[in-house]
Amino acid sequence: MMQKILMSLCLVIAGAALAAPPLLPLAKDGIHDTQGPAFTLLQEPAEALGNLPVDRYGFTDWVKTLQDGHITPRTGISGSEKMKAVDLDITMKNTASMPHVLFSHQVHTQWLTCSNCHSRIFLPQIGGNFVTMAKIVGGEYCGVCHGKVAFSALNCERCHTVPTAKTGLR
Ligand code: HEC
Ligand code: HEC
Ligand code: HEC
Repeated sequence: MMQKILMSLCLVIAGAALAAPPLLPLAKDGIHDTQGPAFTLLQEPAEALGNLPVDRYGFTDWVKTLQDGHITPRTGISGSEKMKAVDLDITMKNTASMPHVLFSHQVHTQWLTCSNCHSRIFLPQIGGNFVTMAKIVGGEYCGVCHGKVAFSALNCERCHTVPTAKTGLR
């Protein structure tokens, strides 16, 4: 019961902390130099991102963006490099009372190459890595990317997608 309340609280706090900021015009974001010679060449965020699908917190959902064909990223600098996507789903089960985590190689290898993860971040062996949330939030394992170049580690339900009998129990 206590854990259920804590969990709901976590979700509420994460939700509040996660809400995507509005897409401010470049001239108003406090980052860009409007006097810079190339300023007028830059695309406005609302124009670049405004029509892309978003997740429940309002951030661009890059997986859906790619799947739905809104973007077709180059495979490398020249564009002639080959991507090697592999279809290998792994269910990560050390999640206490949270739903299990479905790790999709397919999703990741549409953006990344094997050596981005193996073996510096993950030994390529099921159950071969001692992953905890503390480490993820601290920037290790999934946290090398999630919370930096991929969606936030606070967005619990995008990773913990596989309900179990224990979900929500203590
Ligand atoms: C985004 C990171 C990431 C990328 C990129 C990635 N992997 Fe993995 N890989 C993982 C994770 C996480 C696991 C599971 C580790 C665990 O359970 O502790 C895994 C597990 C594996 C396993 C073990 C499967 C088994 O049955 O034991 C193999 C083999 C593997 N990966 C091959 C690859 C290959 C080949 C590529 C490139 C085409 C690749 N991986 C790209 C993260 C990645
Ligand atoms: C080397 C970088 C990297 C690592 C490490 C990494 N990811 Fe990702 N992940 C990405 C990128 C890039 C995307 C696509 C962009 C996005 O969704 O923000 C992504 C997308 C995802 C998605 C979205 C799938 C969907 O269908 O919407 C899930 C779930 C996910 N990652 C889980 C994990 C888990 C779990 C781990 C650790 C076991 C992990 N990732 C490690 C880079 C990484
Ligand atoms: C980027 C993907 C990702 C996100 C986002 C994420 N988790 Fe996790 N979580 C994992 C992975 C991977 C594991 C380890 C699973 C394994 O090793 O079998 C894990 C393990 C856990 C565990 C058990 C281990 C521990 O450290 O206690 C709990 C509890 C947990 N997560 C809760 C949460 C909560 C709450 C949130 C949101 C605030 C969250 N997770 C967000 C990927 C994620």
